Amino acid sequence: MTQLLYIETFGCQMNERDSEIMAQLLGEHSYIQTSLPDQADVVVVNTCSIRGKAAHKAYSCFGRYKKLKEKGHDFILAVTGCVAQQDGEALLERMPYIDIVMGPQSIYTLPSLVAAARRDKKPLVATDLSADFVIPPFLPNLAEGAPHKRFITIMQGCDNFCTYCVVPYTRGREISRSFGDILTEATHLVSQGVKEITLIGQNVNSYGKKGDAARNKTFPELLRAVAAIEGLQRLRFTTSHPKDLSEELMRCFAEIPSLCPHFHLPFQSGSNSILTRMNRKYTIESYLDKVARLREYRPDIALTTDIIVGFPGETEDDFDATMQVVETVRYHGAYSFKYSDRPNAKAADFPDKVAEEIKTERLARLQTRQEEIALALKQLEIGKSVEIMVEGASKAPANQWSGRTGTNQIVNFSCERKLMPGDLLMVEIDSACQNSLRGKMI
Ligand code: 5AD
Ligand code: SF4
Repeated sequence: MTQLLYIETFGCQMNERDSEIMAQLLGEHSYIQTSLPDQADVVVVNTCSIRGKAAHKAYSCFGRYKKLKEKGHDFILAVTGCVAQQDGEALLERMPYIDIVMGPQSIYTLPSLVAAARRDKKPLVATDLSADFVIPPFLPNLAEGAPHKRFITIMQGCDNFCTYCVVPYTRGREISRSFGDILTEATHLVSQGVKEITLIGQNVNSYGKKGDAARNKTFPELLRAVAAIEGLQRLRFTTSHPKDLSEELMRCFAEIPSLCPHFHLPFQSGSNSILTRMNRKYTIESYLDKVARLREYRPDIALTTDIIVGFPGETEDDFDATMQVVETVRYHGAYSFKYSDRPNAKAADFPDKVAEEIKTERLARLQTRQEEIALALKQLEIGKSVEIMVEGASKAPANQWSGRTGTNQIVNFSCERKLMPGDLLMVEIDSACQNSLRGKMI
């Protein structure tokens, strides 16, 4: 009998990919996805705990499902992702209406956990985090989700222990996936019509360094092997740690035509004393040097970044150094956050916490300036012809479409004929606004 599954996903691409995997696994047991939680037989909440705010969002959403249960809806509530891994058993003590708490390594057992929770009518916790965990080979089902672009997880976990970060505690030790499994998955996707692949992991640049399955392989080798698959139009990856950005990887941007000219390279802070206390293992000078060399290999590369403001002990001078990096590099986009304490992360115990109002004020200053820069960079595109990959039609008005440039900018344009997501075409840019470009088809 068909049953209904509702999945709510917070956080990063790793979680998005994990949610796809869970949907497919339950799909093999006659579940189909619904967009209405109150009709679901199983609800999965895939949580994020990277920052205080993200974890808070997860907690407030559990309350909604509690109310549904109180109204008499009978469904299995499974919580996974980083909040589940972090809080484990304690989550059940606080929220006894949850049926399954499972860490990211346990998602592959979801169908049997659901069956056990139904049979035994008691809550289950599956939060083992093993350093020997192997991501199972898994061929994606293309019936669900965007048909033309897909994520492939190439590694998981993190061994860097930045002092603000919870990831080493929620995703465990860094483990690379087998080279062969990744290529099999990529080849399968491309043979099914996928045009763009993004290789994902917490720190893809260190691919091959940890985990037997990928021993003696490097990230540039993996990029070249995936790019060689006939029919793949665009290749992307995220996310990267500056200390692991090698010359060989930079060279890939000059030599692999399908590798999109976009690099997400978090710098976090422009102050060396803050970087040291963050345990980032690079100086801002070496970061800027890598940016300059990357631009030599690929002058049109668009850079994006992550920035934390108000790390413990951040002075006005430290913050000015961060602003200076934003001026120097001129990022196409930046995700910026107020520092928040995270469980287990070392910086939670650091003295000299920055007052909330100072963090708020610094963040606003940073974001205002960054938006000006991003808009100015978009305006530079006006008059240029760029290749875009079609994403899909806008809901309204008719004949409006949107696509993405290789640099990952959204371009809206009109077209009378029917296009398919994944089509490549040339557009001349005629205007720019904060979040997108507008152009006409050539
Ligand atoms: N506080 C604020 N921002 C954080 N990030 C990670 N941990 C924290 C924290 N404790 C940010 C970093 C990272 C991004 C994914 O989230 O900038 O690159
Ligand atoms: Fe959030 Fe990090 Fe977990 Fe992704 S890995 S869900 S960003 S805490």
